[in-house]
This record gives sequence, C-alpha cells and structure tokens, in this order.
Amino acid sequence: MIIIGGSSSRDLAKDTASLLGCGYVQAFSMRFPDGECYVRVDRESLDDDVAIIQNTHPDANIVELLLLQDAVRTLGARTITTVVPYFGYARQDRVFKPGEAESAKVMCDIIGRGCDRVLTVDIHKEDTLRHLSCRYRDLKAAGMIAGYFKGRSIDLVFAPDAGAAGRAKEVADALGVPHDHLEKTRLSAFEVRIAPSATSCEGKDVLIVDDMISTGSTIVAAKQALAEAGAKSVSVACTHGLFIGDALERLRGSSLDVVVCCNTIESSASLISAAPIIAAALREE
Ligand code: R5P
Repeated sequence: MIIIGGSSSRDLAKDTASLLGCGYVQAFSMRFPDGECYVRVDRESLDDDVAIIQNTHPDANIVELLLLQDAVRTLGARTITTVVPYFGYARQDRVFKPGEAESAKVMCDIIGRGCDRVLTVDIHKEDTLRHLSCRYRDLKAAGMIAGYFKGRSIDLVFAPDAGAAGRAKEVADALGVPHDHLEKTRLSAFEVRIAPSATSCEGKDVLIVDDMISTGSTIVAAKQALAEAGAKSVSVACTHGLFIGDALERLRGSSLDVVVCCNTIESSASLISAAPIIAAALREE
C-alpha cells in the first residue's frame, strides 16, 4: 500500500502511512497563474495498492482530487482507494426545491468514476454514498471522540438536533452515560433556534456532539439552551471543524469548556486524529 497525501490532508495522510508502516508520497500541487490546478506524484511507477487522502472542500480540492486519481492510475496503481476525510457538498443530499442540483450525488458520480473504493469519515448522511459506482464505507469517529473524553467528567451527551442523535448515542454509549437530542430550527445560514432542553441538565457536565461545525450557530444556540437548563459545564466535539470566518474564536469566547474536533479538517482545534480509523479500514480490506 502507498498513501498519497493531497494538499488538504497532509498530516492525516502522513499519520495514516506511519500507522500502516507503508510508503507515503506527498503529492506536489500548485496553481497556474490562471488558477488552474497542476498535480504531480513524484514516482516512476506505482505498482501497488494506492490510497489518496484528500477532502472535497473547498471547491479547489475537488479538482486536485480528480487530477490525483488520474495521476496514480496513469502510474499503474493496482487499485485506488479514495479517502475523503471531509466530504464536502454532503448536506445538499436531495432536491429540496425544484430546480436545485443534487450536489452530493454529483460529487459521488465524479469521485466514484476515478477509483475502486471510497472511504469517508462521518459523512453527513451515510445513505448519500449509494450514488457511488464503486465500493464504499463510511468510517465512524465516535470511538475516537469518546476516547478523547474518557477520564474527563461528562455526565450527559446531547446532539444539537435529531439528525445527530445517532452520533451522540454512539459517543454516550462508549462513555457509559445517557444521551438525548435537542430540537433545532434553522432560520438562515447564520441563525438557528434551539428549543429549551426537555432533559434536566442541572449541575451536569454536558457534551454536545455533532458531525460538523460550520458557522458555529448551532453550537452557540445549543450551548445557550443547555446553560439555561442548568448545565454546570458544556463541552463540544464534532468530527469536521469547518469553522467558517471567526466561528472558532466565537465558540472559544462563548464560555464553552472544551471545543475539539477531528483532523479531517486541520485547525488548532483538531486534536483528535482520524488516522487510526482510516488506517484500520485500509488494513482490513
Ligand atoms: C446540520 O445538519 C449539521 O449536522 C450541523 O449541525 C450544521 O451543519 C452546523 O452548521 P452551523 O455550525 O453553521 O450551525
């Protein structure tokens, strides 16, 4: 196995290769003056199973990934696994209003064509991957998140909405504590309303678990609802920390006790490595 690191996922790719004890090649990529992408995998040939690790967010990374798939195929890769730690466009997973594109399906179409297998980490909805024309598997970060909080005081795990309830349950089960979810209404991209918690949080150390933090609006509203319900402390963990604009600073300034995410997107909060679950999946198959 040889791991190829795309520009979005250098540390994660390197860590994965080191856990597997296999070859690692950092792909070279640059932009021409007109903005077009150029990639090169500096090897004479790749007569091996190859895994490319690269996100599909932001948009520029999609083109880089497609070019990397072509480069490794041309170098003779026996099989190609595309690891997409953060699968961008997954939230537009259906046509909500007539005339819209089904963006998640489009991403599956183009990525699936260039490889034999796709691995994702906590994709927004696993069902999206059915659009791929190749084998696929979504890896779960819940165990890694729970591992981070083992030994810290957590009494109760909350999902900020019903969609994240399954993830919260997995983390709660691993920690051996109860879980629940809040009721969320999204008013706009930056505005979220969360109903008061029906579960008592009085004096409890609470952990909110979500798949991603984008603008941070969901977490700010969830934190407020839980604080109003009497929580002693509120921590937050997500898999993908997009932290648009000043979201991370806003969250850190909003008296949350811990803000932590996986390194599917690298930032100062990405303290939980997804490398062990990616390496295990690559080792198994
Ligand atoms: C929504 O369904 C997702 O699970 C997240 O809760 C959401 O995308 C977070 O976005 P934001 O941080 O902008 O509220």
